[in-house]
Amino acid sequence: MARAGIDTSRNRRASAAKTGDGSAPAPSSEVRRVVAVEYVRRMRGASQPFLLRCDDGGLYVVKFRNNPQHVRILANELLAASLARLIGLPAPLPAIVEVPAEMLEKSAKLEFQIGSRNEPCLPGAQFGSRYPAGSEALRVVDFLPDRLLRRVPSVESLFIGAYVFDKWTCNCDGRQVIFFRSDEREDRAYSAALIDHGFCFNDGEWNFPDSPIRSFYPRRIVYESVRGLRSFEPYLSRVENLEAREIKECVEAIPGEWCGDAPDEAAHLGERLVERRRRLRQMIIEARDSALRPFPNWE
Ligand SMILES: Nc1ncnc2c1ncn2[C@@H]1O[C@H](COP(=O)(O)OP(=O)(O)OP(=O)(O)O)[C@@H](O)[C@H]1O
Ligand SMILES: [Mg+2]
Repeated sequence: MARAGIDTSRNRRASAAKTGDGSAPAPSSEVRRVVAVEYVRRMRGASQPFLLRCDDGGLYVVKFRNNPQHVRILANELLAASLARLIGLPAPLPAIVEVPAEMLEKSAKLEFQIGSRNEPCLPGAQFGSRYPAGSEALRVVDFLPDRLLRRVPSVESLFIGAYVFDKWTCNCDGRQVIFFRSDEREDRAYSAALIDHGFCFNDGEWNFPDSPIRSFYPRRIVYESVRGLRSFEPYLSRVENLEAREIKECVEAIPGEWCGDAPDEAAHLGERLVERRRRLRQMIIEARDSALRPFPNWE
């Protein structure tokens, strides 16, 4: 248990995370539960998420169980956000969002557009990723030009940490980040948070098809400070030092109905993550030696 004022590893992790919603990373077993109260708008993206206001006053980007991708992307999102926050990476607060059937009846907009037909969203427990402010008086963007990217606080540490995380979890999608700042403070640098973990653990497969050329952010300036394995600290050691129990607690917090036909496979997924902690260094070395030569300043 972390005590106030004492720099335990847990305190260090918590203070390292800037989540953009003012929330300290919660212990994984305490996933926030909220109820959706208002449709706000449709978001872009293949899973066709929606922005919903919830009964805690917050906005959440919500992915539904019957999204056009796979039910397990909800499990992946929750598990990955919990693990990322556990090692001090800035991922938005994840939540289980209860969407009442009455809300779906009232809002015809809560449906998926699949080809020429529309399919209604299911009621019940969905995944929510906290939008970084209570209101939309905030500029949120998916990409920044290099000039602004360089000004993001701790930008290299953030992307190098994300890289370690994506290797560990075998994120089979490109690394995605949101950048946000208040609309009124245009002189201020953007903050960043890691989003979209639906394809960690390889989508619905949960089978970790590792590749040395995967997981790089397309703006390579974020890796310019890499000089050797020590550059991947503190995240490398944080993953390696996670206790099996901590990982297991995150897995156990996943609602069974988000795990598809074989919810028992979630326990195995947790075991694989425990085992993969020890292979991270080798995976980074293999990436260094790959044809991409991603770390030009490695000594
Ligand atoms: N927590 C969040 N706060 C603010 N915006 C968010 C958040 N999560 C997602 N978004 C926005 O919603 C968009 C879609 O989210 P996300 O990428 O997770 O969905 P997706 O279905 O995987 O999309 P794609 O297939 O295009 O990657 C993002 O590009 C981002 O702009
Ligand atoms: Mg995405």
